Amino acid sequence: MTTASKQEYTRRATHTYPSPNAMRDEVLAGLQAAPKALAPKFFYDATGAALFERITQLDAYYLTRSELAILDARVSEIAALAGPSAALIEYGSGAGIKVRSLLDAMDAPAFYVPIDISGEQLERVAATLRDDYPNVDIHPLCADYTRPITLPRREQSHRRVAFFPGSTIGNFEPAAAASFLRGVRATVGPTGALILGVDRRKDRAVVEEAYNDAEGVTAAFNLNLLVRLNRELGANFDLARFRHKAFFNEDASRIEMHLESTEAQIVTVAGVPISFDAGETIWTEASYKYDLPRLERLAHEGGFRIRQLWTDPEKRFWLGFLEAVDSPMGTAAPRD
Ligand code: AVI
Repeated sequence: MTTASKQEYTRRATHTYPSPNAMRDEVLAGLQAAPKALAPKFFYDATGAALFERITQLDAYYLTRSELAILDARVSEIAALAGPSAALIEYGSGAGIKVRSLLDAMDAPAFYVPIDISGEQLERVAATLRDDYPNVDIHPLCADYTRPITLPRREQSHRRVAFFPGSTIGNFEPAAAASFLRGVRATVGPTGALILGVDRRKDRAVVEEAYNDAEGVTAAFNLNLLVRLNRELGANFDLARFRHKAFFNEDASRIEMHLESTEAQIVTVAGVPISFDAGETIWTEASYKYDLPRLERLAHEGGFRIRQLWTDPEKRFWLGFLEAVDSPMGTAAPRD
């Protein structure tokens, strides 16, 4: 990597995302729309990122545990499919925990490119990984990974394997999920692959409990969005007048998280008055749960085919190895 491109990586890895102006415009547009909605990426300020880490450790939030159990049991199979000397690109690298087992199991991985919008955490995690994996070139990229990613030439001469764990794909609307996968397909190229974590559709009681934990951590995570808007956009949300709401929408196969106004009120955001009826909500997140036909459709529309799917003993989660296809036709997956 040249010095100039190293500097570019460092600059992008440390600037904050989204920029205050872009955030103000997007938030106001979301709050002036009907129904009101905000993108889940706004959850992740420093407090939101810490609250999310706590969620992943909750008993009720089975997703992380299930995925880690699969990774633990299947990592050598996954590494064998990835092949030697690959460039591993992680979309939404967070605390950088899951990738360690992959890097440990893979045959001489050449590059690791963690991509995240939380610049500070990204740099911290990259520094620790550089110490622990001196033979892997680690290039953090602070970016909105839903936008096209251009990798430096050196990564492009290796087999590119994307890693998108955590069922974050579930936070995309189906059309956006397919378009995101097409972007990943463009980044990894025709010989590339994608290791994808997906939450399976299941009994609504199990999934609703995961988003309504008794400790109230998910409620705090949702409400922290209003704290962030108060601090960063000079809003005056009164947290006592909003409540966390999460339920499974069977028809759409998704958990919906909302912030519900408990009374009629007017809130000022960046100087703009926003009125709420009693019971009106801001839709803050959708978390889609996939059955096999939906997952196969997603892979197909994204330009991949499912090479292998692994599940956990309770059949709650899938980790999939998807391979890029040139033709738009997907094929059925072997699975346990
Ligand atoms: C990041 N994402 C996969 C989480 C989910 O389950 O949709 C975010 C989350 N929202 C509430 N709890 C966790």
